[in-house]
Amino acid sequence: MAVSFRTLHPHFVAEASGINIAAGVSDGDIEALRDGFETHSVLVFRDQVLDDETQLAFSARFGPLETTLSGALGKGANKLSASVSDLSNIDGDGEIIPAADERMVFMTGNRLWHTDSSFKPVPALASLLSGREVPSAGGETEFCCLRAAYDGLDAGMKARIADLIAEHSIVYSRRRLGRGFFSAEEAARIPPVHHPVVRTNPVNGRPALYLGAHASHIVGLAEDEGRALIDELMAHATRPEHVYSHQWRRHDLVMWDNRAVLHRGRPWDEREPRVMHRTTVAGTGPTVGPDASP
Ligand code: OGA
Ligand code: MN
Repeated sequence: MAVSFRTLHPHFVAEASGINIAAGVSDGDIEALRDGFETHSVLVFRDQVLDDETQLAFSARFGPLETTLSGALGKGANKLSASVSDLSNIDGDGEIIPAADERMVFMTGNRLWHTDSSFKPVPALASLLSGREVPSAGGETEFCCLRAAYDGLDAGMKARIADLIAEHSIVYSRRRLGRGFFSAEEAARIPPVHHPVVRTNPVNGRPALYLGAHASHIVGLAEDEGRALIDELMAHATRPEHVYSHQWRRHDLVMWDNRAVLHRGRPWDEREPRVMHRTTVAGTGPTVGPDASP
C-alpha cells in the first residue's frame, strides 16, 4: 500500500496513511514520508502500536537521534533509553506523579510555545511523539505554522528581521516558570546559543520564523527592544488561524518539523495518565557561523 497524505489544516499538517510502522517500512516509503514532512511540516499517523525499540528504529531512518537533556546533564533520571524523552505523568512503578512534583512542574515548560532543542547549538530537525496512553479529555498538542506566520508579515517587518539572530536558553525559558531548575554548574553546561530569526527550508526554499520560549533576546539589540520584538512576532505567529490542535487518540504518532512549527502541550486532568514517548532527530549542524546549515 502506497503512502498518501490528507491535509488537516489550510497551511500545514497532513495525516499519512498506508504505513504500518511496526510491520516494517520500505526505503521508498521513508522517501515519500520525508517529502511529506518537508511539505506539510506535521505528519499524523494513526493506529501505530509502538514500543520504544520500534519507535527508535523508525525515527533513526530520518537521521541521527538526539540524546535527552537529562542524559546530557548526567542526571540519569530518565527511565527510558538515552534517546527516548519520557513526557509521561507515570513513574517507574506505574504510579501517577503528582502535578506539584518537580518533574511535572519542569514539564509544564512544554505548555509554552516552543521548538524542540532550540537551546542546543544544533537544534532538533524532527520530533516524533507517540501517544501510548492519552487522557479522555484535554492534553492536546497544538502546532503553529511558522511559514504562514512569516508569509503574513508585512514587507517592513520581513526586512527588519531578515538578518537578526536570537539567543536561546533553556535556563531562561525554565526561569520563566518562576523557579530555578538548574544549578549554576548545570547552567554552565548548557550555555545560551544563537539561531537566525528566519530559517529557510533547503528543499523547497520556504522561509519560516524561528523563535519560541527559549528565545530570550536578539543579539545586538537592547534587551527590552529585542524582547518586545520577540513578543510581537510570537503573538503574530500563534494567532488562531496559524494553529492546528491535535486531539490525541491512543497509538497516534505525530512527527513534526522543528524548523517550521512551534508546539505546546495543553493541560488535562492530571489524575488521568498521559504516557507520551518522544524520539528526536538531530539537525544537520549549527545554524550560524562558518559551518552553518539551514
Ligand atoms: C514534546 C512536547 C507537548 C505535549 O513532546 O516535545 O513539547 O503535548 N510535547 O506533550
Ligand atoms: Mn517539545
